[in-house]
Amino acid sequence: MLDIDARDAARAFSLTQPPPGFIDDPYPVYALLREHDPLHELAPGSLLLTRHADVLAVYRSPNASSDKKAEFAPRLGLGTPIYEHHTSSLVFSDPPLHTRVRRLLMGALNQRAISRMEAGLVSLVDGLLEHLADRPAPDLIEDFAARIPVEVIGNLLAVPHAEREPLRDWSLAILSALEPAPGPELLARANAAVSDFIVYLRQLVDERRRHPGDPEADVLTRLLQGDAEGVLSETELLHNCIFLLNAGHETTTNLIGNGLHALLRHPGELQRLVADPALINTAVEELLRYESPLQLNNRRLTAELEIGGQDIPVGTFVTLCIGAANRDPAVFADPDRLDLARKPNNHLAFGQGAHACSGMNVARLEARIAVGRLLARYPHVTAAGDAERDRRVRFRGLRHLPVDLG
Ligand code: HEM
Repeated sequence: MLDIDARDAARAFSLTQPPPGFIDDPYPVYALLREHDPLHELAPGSLLLTRHADVLAVYRSPNASSDKKAEFAPRLGLGTPIYEHHTSSLVFSDPPLHTRVRRLLMGALNQRAISRMEAGLVSLVDGLLEHLADRPAPDLIEDFAARIPVEVIGNLLAVPHAEREPLRDWSLAILSALEPAPGPELLARANAAVSDFIVYLRQLVDERRRHPGDPEADVLTRLLQGDAEGVLSETELLHNCIFLLNAGHETTTNLIGNGLHALLRHPGELQRLVADPALINTAVEELLRYESPLQLNNRRLTAELEIGGQDIPVGTFVTLCIGAANRDPAVFADPDRLDLARKPNNHLAFGQGAHACSGMNVARLEARIAVGRLLARYPHVTAAGDAERDRRVRFRGLRHLPVDLG
């Protein structure tokens, strides 16, 4: 492609109407944007950033707000359940709410708490692997990846096992409303999911108030108790529980699913991991980089900020493209190559700065156990037919991944 065509193609890029093939493989488009239009105007006052250094600069800036009330009011509908949800959770808040909720959550997601999850996770994964062999057409999403996070997050909030079934569908519906252009049908599903979730959580919260759990392990008890600065309001409490249940759900399913899919498409790397299971730590980091489950984050500048040598005015809405930053050749040698031993690997799959993912070590543990134990048990696993992709731009993942266990 001539440079001038490439520049035009980059400038014409739209997230709401991406070019054909983008959902299946966005990386050539990201490369075009990084090279020819790294501060890409999506609309007046709205930029898409694709270079690692630029994305990092915004994550680390104290003048980049996560509050989304102004964006969400017209898009989600002021006063609707889905608007209330997405404007009350910590991820879309600034201090002081963000600081308080994050401190409470982090206290229950420390290394000690995570280590305690390991034995239960191993038996959950081994049980799923056992059943996989009985399936006529094993699907590594439905029968495996999607079954793990729901149990882990359910345990964190001590949701009774029999009540976990609707969590995945609620989570999918609520997070889908964050797509760049959610239609009326999607919004209706999201509103219904928030309302049903709230009804369910009120009962769970009442029950936990009557019978508190161990605040070292039970996040809900911790959120209910509050800290020296007081307790959360009912709205803050319920919506942050919903957020937590959602945050660790689809993302981790997609880390495991995308990771296994990438390995199936790179049998040399798959066999490298089978031969050397000690590679699992760097392998999980590389799978996070290579096919990041969350592709986009957003901020609004609260002061002028220099990005990539340009002064970007206060008020600019910035979309940070994690997927593009994680393939930036300025940071990663041969970025389109999957290299399970890659080191260093400064990927941005968990974001960075004040809002960096609170559950990153939970997700890493789940992926290490899921991928490691699957390959130990079924080292000759291969793809059986086409994987079916989830067709959204913010969340990158698969709906189905049929395999032959070998
Ligand atoms: C592979 C799986 C995961 C990925 C890729 C992921 C990604 C992210 C990213 C990129 C952010 C930053 C959002 C921003 O800056 O605007 C974030 C925030 C967050 N994540 Fe995760 N996440 C994952 C799993 C989890 C898990 C398992 C949990 C909970 C156990 C969790 C809880 C959170 C929370 C609470 C926040 C908000 C932090 C804050 O605003 O201070 N995530 N996640």
